[in-house]
Amino acid sequence: MKKKAIILGIESSCDETAVSLIQEDSGEKPKILSNVVSSQFDIHKEFGGVVPELAARAHVEKIDLIANKAIKDSKISLNQISAVAATSGPGLIVCLTIGLSFGKTIAYSLGIPFIGVNHLEGHALSPKLNSKLEYPYLLLLISGGHSQYLSVGGLGNYKRLGTTIDDALGEAFDKTAKLIGIGIPGGPGLEKFAKKGNPNKFDLPKPIINKGGCNLSFAGLKTAILRITKDIKSEQDKFDLAASFQKTIEEILYVKTIKAFDEYKKIHGEQKKKFVVAGGVAANESIRKKLIKVSKENNFEPIFPDPSLCGDNAAMIAMVGLEKYKIKKFDKFDLPATPRLSLDESAKFLKGPGVKL
Ligand code: KG4
Ligand code: ZN
Repeated sequence: MKKKAIILGIESSCDETAVSLIQEDSGEKPKILSNVVSSQFDIHKEFGGVVPELAARAHVEKIDLIANKAIKDSKISLNQISAVAATSGPGLIVCLTIGLSFGKTIAYSLGIPFIGVNHLEGHALSPKLNSKLEYPYLLLLISGGHSQYLSVGGLGNYKRLGTTIDDALGEAFDKTAKLIGIGIPGGPGLEKFAKKGNPNKFDLPKPIINKGGCNLSFAGLKTAILRITKDIKSEQDKFDLAASFQKTIEEILYVKTIKAFDEYKKIHGEQKKKFVVAGGVAANESIRKKLIKVSKENNFEPIFPDPSLCGDNAAMIAMVGLEKYKIKKFDKFDLPATPRLSLDESAKFLKGPGVKL
């Protein structure tokens, strides 16, 4: 019988130190043998955002402890590991370097292949950890650094249909949370506030809602929120502002997703209409509901990663590692960390003032 591959995944691109082991399975999806994530919220909270040097130091201090725990939890021995996969970009260079070097060292000392992984591809494939998912599919990637609609044709095969022209959606959540006075992590905190508020209290802008296809823009919202927070008095006002912000985001995504469906159908026709939503913001319950609604209305099958796998984790890195391992797509030990890395290298840069849509 063919040996089932076991991949050790490592993630350290930003403020999560994570190690996971997954095993190929004859069933529909791989088995997660262990998945350890250590977040650094406490380290960065007094600064209101991630401080790269502090993040890097925390990765250095913790990575071997996290790896030891992941290996122990998995109940396998080191010599059973088939390959090591580590995030090589995008992310903070000082942070990427730590996980990448650690991964190369393990692979080298065990004499097994090393695989560099694009963090965004990790998010893109994350639903494959909890359900059978075949290519092609439409992907909405909504994280702290990216907000994009992509047509996913296969491993390493991405066509960008739309992107944010300014802030990423997670960034918009974090900035709004900060203005309202919610601590970090901003996104989940804002979602809790929104549950206690009136979503119709404040009327907020929906930038480029009727132009630019399925491109997105969130920066105008931040300006509007800043103006409103100056007049805000009560705790209830804060809840109402959080709820109004979240409702506005849902409405923007509803309209833009229909445009993305149309773009996707131009490529793939009416068959295989699957819509995957991944990245940290995909954990948001009411955004999920709205995107399920728009999918059903347009005959797309909505697919989400398990909520525990929406945020940064190493199981999704191991997932990409497993797919690359199966086709023997390995990297050399001189693979560099790449702070800027996209899924569709041919897509036009669409950021900043004066961008033409
Ligand atoms: O994918 P991720 O963990 O890291 C990046 O690759 O960026 O995404 C983190 C982002 C943060 O901006 C965080 O505030 C947001 O995802 N986020 C949420 C929720 N959980 C995480 N935003 C809205 N609602 C949530 N429940
Ligand atoms: Zn991420």
